[in-house]
Amino acid sequence: MLGVLIAFEGGEGTGKSTQAARLAERLGATLTREPGGTAIGGRIRALVLDPANQELADRAEALLMAADRAQHVAEVIRPVLDAGGIVVTDRFAGSSLAYQSYGRGLPLEEIERLSRWATDGVWPDVVVLLSVPDAVAEARLGDERDRMEGVGDGFHQRVADGFRALAAADPERWVVLDGTGTVDEVADRVWAAVAPRLEAGAR
Ligand code: TMP
Repeated sequence: MLGVLIAFEGGEGTGKSTQAARLAERLGATLTREPGGTAIGGRIRALVLDPANQELADRAEALLMAADRAQHVAEVIRPVLDAGGIVVTDRFAGSSLAYQSYGRGLPLEEIERLSRWATDGVWPDVVVLLSVPDAVAEARLGDERDRMEGVGDGFHQRVADGFRALAAADPERWVVLDGTGTVDEVADRVWAAVAPRLEAGAR
């Protein structure tokens, strides 16, 4: 595979979707997201985020996220990488590790194995973790919560701690950036962190 895969990760309300779009535009890259980067993924996304589906079991949630990722890689990501292009994705496997493992409590190595199987080995070259204080994320979220945003009991704190642990464990791949400030300020920070890695031939 000749291309480069860049993933944005972080909790809800960190501004990662805005920043993923800005970076993709600047790079002329393919912009996509998880869950929901394909038509099939859109149906999975609706299912997993619908607050009416409270009975969804943790393992079923993990498998649905992995199914979304498998379809996303097969249909969107791998063809672009094979053609030597750049893909910027708003969430990838890091979200499964943070949400389904650190958040839900499923074993980390099992969730990682599931994701690697789903992607047939496709893994991001660069992961950008945007970090904002809880109060800022909360204010950006608003009142309408989807099924994941609505989970209580310290879930989102465990997810945030999980993202930090994942980044600390793999500092060559992950960059942690301050997500506070204007969109332009954060976009400049993202560019300053990502551009040198692309020049260095991130892979
Ligand atoms: P989004 O609205 O930021 O795109 O997020 C979709 C939700 O799905 C968000 O709460 C994170 C969650 N999610 C997981 O729990 N596991 C995953 O693997 C992915 C990709 C997303």
